[in-house]
Amino acid sequence: MTSGTLIPGQVVVIEVPVRNGSFEREHSALVLRSPDTSGELLAALIFNQDAVYGSDLDAIVIEDSDFEGEGLGRTSVVRAQQTLVIHRSAVKRIVGMLQPRAFSAVIRCRISLDVKLFYEVFHDARRFDPARDRVPYAGRVFDEKEVQAAVDAALDFWLTLGPHGDRFQKTLAEFLGVRSSVLVNSGSSANLVAFAALTSHKLGERRIRPGDEVITVAAGFPTTVNPILQYGCVPVFVDSDTKTGNIEVSYLEEALSERTRAVMLAHTLGNPFDADAVTEFCQRHGLWLIEDNCDALGSLYKGKLTGTFGDLSTQSFYPPHHLTMGEGGAVNIVREAQLKPIVESFRDWGRDCWCDSGKENTCGKRFGWRLGELPEGYDHKYIYSHIGYNLKPLDIQAAIGCEQLAKLPFFVEARRRNWKRLLDRVRPFEEFLELPEATPGSEPSWFGFMVLVRTEAPFTRKDIVEHLENHKIQTRMLFGGNLARQPAYLKAGNGSNRLPFRIVGNLRGADRLMNDAFFLGVYPGLTDVHIDYMIQVLSDFLRKL
Ligand SMILES: Cc1ncc(COP(=O)(O)O)c(C=O)c1O
Repeated sequence: MTSGTLIPGQVVVIEVPVRNGSFEREHSALVLRSPDTSGELLAALIFNQDAVYGSDLDAIVIEDSDFEGEGLGRTSVVRAQQTLVIHRSAVKRIVGMLQPRAFSAVIRCRISLDVKLFYEVFHDARRFDPARDRVPYAGRVFDEKEVQAAVDAALDFWLTLGPHGDRFQKTLAEFLGVRSSVLVNSGSSANLVAFAALTSHKLGERRIRPGDEVITVAAGFPTTVNPILQYGCVPVFVDSDTKTGNIEVSYLEEALSERTRAVMLAHTLGNPFDADAVTEFCQRHGLWLIEDNCDALGSLYKGKLTGTFGDLSTQSFYPPHHLTMGEGGAVNIVREAQLKPIVESFRDWGRDCWCDSGKENTCGKRFGWRLGELPEGYDHKYIYSHIGYNLKPLDIQAAIGCEQLAKLPFFVEARRRNWKRLLDRVRPFEEFLELPEATPGSEPSWFGFMVLVRTEAPFTRKDIVEHLENHKIQTRMLFGGNLARQPAYLKAGNGSNRLPFRIVGNLRGADRLMNDAFFLGVYPGLTDVHIDYMIQVLSDFLRKL
């Protein structure tokens, strides 16, 4: 028995009575927990490397160089989950101490495997039972890898955007084929930061100014439009086509005025807008294009990913979206490198400095700037070139996002498959329901399956939606419907009677979408069983008419 103090991280030699039926007098082990009051400690067994199969998930290889001082004199393997509770009297001697990096790898491995077990027992999908379960329109789809990544990042306790954020931004930009991606804490923040960036004085004459007009659609999500108002500009609402849910591009010319500076549009429910017409219009008139790609990650228009047509594009990583990190979003800088530091500045308090979190003096002249009317050499960390925000997510979120990104091709494929199955099975009811259509030349990565109740149908949208919801099938409207009819927009005129927006045409399409449209889920958590149940409930309603 050793008389030394036993502490976590020590490698010791213990007496083990029996293992695999054979008698072993001595075995090396790693102390995981110091002896308690009764003298019992927790230790993980250490084996010769050749005694362990490489596929064992809890096998951590250690070399002598992983020790502080002397080691075991050979390459060995700690089996992080093969533990023993032994009395301190069974410890014959202390060999040495593992370095923190090697010891932390063992502890992380133990935690990670427990997290996997937790996931398998408590999170893994049960079989769908219509009597008990809801059919959600969307939700997070994940496996043990996301939970493990979150816990592992929590162990780092870096917290603020860091290494996982860098990895996520790089991988997303590579996936899209854009110049760079900048993480923010939501899709709404992404839209805000993207718009704000285009108001920067650094863009000179090209900047968007208060009073300028921005062409958008009335039928959609509010935070695609809100930044326009928040920067004192005027949204110009154009109508939408009810089959694709997207902008009626034939109205673009009519929407143009001398003050038009930009077009800001979403790809509705994953269905790409007519990117040929919109980009040609923007180029011809020298307009910025912000693509709200929040609902369309993975969608293709003429073989090119959406989110790559505009000057800037945005993503949302809220759970219903194509991938999630809880809350989260991104601004994609499609081509123009100059926009990246501007986007980052608005995200990061408006600062001029571009050091990553935890870094200093990336520019090499932290105390060598002279900007504004500040004294020469004022700390660049505290020089502000924009009226900015702080809209960063946590590194833990980015760690989850990295795992989700790896699943994106599967997610996109599942969304397409579910949408197609719904379309095929709803087609017999076309007499009552207007069915969705993919924009010509597109391959959408669908957010939802939208239908419109025909005006002449013998039931209302309320009737059918209530029937579905009563049978535990979640439905959603097309977000804000016709935003021009929402109280927020009608009242946003700062007390004056003037509406804060301009309308082109009569917005008949937006009104129809507001009155008659709803959508069902297609998210990857839905299987054929869910889809067929949705169809059965829908058919029960429609056949009774
Ligand atoms: C088209 C569109 N843009 C922006 C957003 C906002 O995203 P977030 O909820 O992450 O703020 C949404 C949300 O669903 C959306 O559908």
